[in-house]
Amino acid sequence: MRIVLLGGAGYLGSVASHHLASQGHDVTVVDGLIYNRADEPGRLLPHDAAFVHGDLRDPGLLIRVSDGADAVVHLGGIVGEPASQLDEQLAVELNYASPMIAAEAASAAGVRHYVFFSSCSVYGMREGTVDEDTEPNPLGIYARTKVLAERRLPDVLGPDTALTSLRLATVHGSSPRQRLDSVVNAMASRAASTGRIPLNGGSQRRPLVHVGDVARVLAGVVEQRLPGAWNVGSDGENFTIGDIAATVAEVVPGAVIDRGPEQNEADARDYRTSFARLQRALPGACPTTLKEGVREIAALVLTGLVTDPQQAQYDNHRGLIEALAAGKVSSLGSADCLRHGGEYAAAWGQS
Ligand SMILES: NC(=O)c1ccc[n+]([C@@H]2O[C@H](COP(=O)([O-])OP(=O)(O)OC[C@H]3O[C@@H](n4cnc5c(N)ncnc54)[C@H](O)[C@@H]3O)[C@@H](O)[C@H]2O)c1
Repeated sequence: MRIVLLGGAGYLGSVASHHLASQGHDVTVVDGLIYNRADEPGRLLPHDAAFVHGDLRDPGLLIRVSDGADAVVHLGGIVGEPASQLDEQLAVELNYASPMIAAEAASAAGVRHYVFFSSCSVYGMREGTVDEDTEPNPLGIYARTKVLAERRLPDVLGPDTALTSLRLATVHGSSPRQRLDSVVNAMASRAASTGRIPLNGGSQRRPLVHVGDVARVLAGVVEQRLPGAWNVGSDGENFTIGDIAATVAEVVPGAVIDRGPEQNEADARDYRTSFARLQRALPGACPTTLKEGVREIAALVLTGLVTDPQQAQYDNHRGLIEALAAGKVSSLGSADCLRHGGEYAAAWGQS
């Protein structure tokens, strides 16, 4: 199949591009390299993938790359609430306007399948267990852009293009484009480099998934053209932040937990997630455990592949601050972005 990965040079996309190419698919990656240098795609992507350096808000480019594709996958955007708060207009352009513009292009090019990377963050804070039928409860800009895109994408795709929304658990594990800013990777890399695991409170629940398992789920949903919303992970990988710290302390030799008070106001997300729907369609999906991901990240540090986990290249929040300062990315205010920005403002009110 010919598969286009928009934002495919990132943490998830670089792993997905290798997996899809290894399965014999013809992969094209489009990325603006917000966090990477122009000479890095050769290191990040499989040698047989085509790479296009471009902006995912450019309708002409999106129509050109969609032409002849069997599936277009959107995994570009700003990840997480702290980075999204740096510039709300930019976050809305990259996380809501861009997927809408790309869907318009895919539909115009006659692409039969569009896959949108969403997040379990859409659930926010919930009692009990959430599944795909639970009403979203977005707590910030990041989750609001994901919820609105999921709701509005069917309007622009039309009846001939199937939509799949993958609501990912928090991802861990190693990637050619390494991120160490999400909870597991941050704790494991910190523990391996300093022997300390900072933990403030830790009662909030988080579902987790390994980056390689996400790539395999993507291949499965594309190959079987599975439409609809899917939580991506497995029921056994629901943990509290405290559980994650305890696992890191168990796996990384000599690491100890530094306990501090609960800081819920920084990130109030708290939910237990059901992955039953995915497991019915793709039995045994997402088998990789938290322990395996922790071992993988600790090994990056202990073998010297990562020398300083605190470098900005591993952190999307600091990486975006640098990219903004360098003028590598900014809000465009194009007609399409303003139109979709108006939809976001109408849906959530100006904040
Ligand atoms: N990593 C996680 O834990 C996680 C969890 C849930 C959902 N997701 C979703 O998965 C997707 C991929 O996440 P990731 O961790 O790989 O992020 P990432 O930041 O590593 O990758 C995103 C890529 O998109 C590119 N990009 C963004 N906007 C662009 C634009 N306008 N033009 C060109 N390129 C652009 C960036 O250069 C980057 O390479 C995102 O949609 C994210 O919201 C990730």
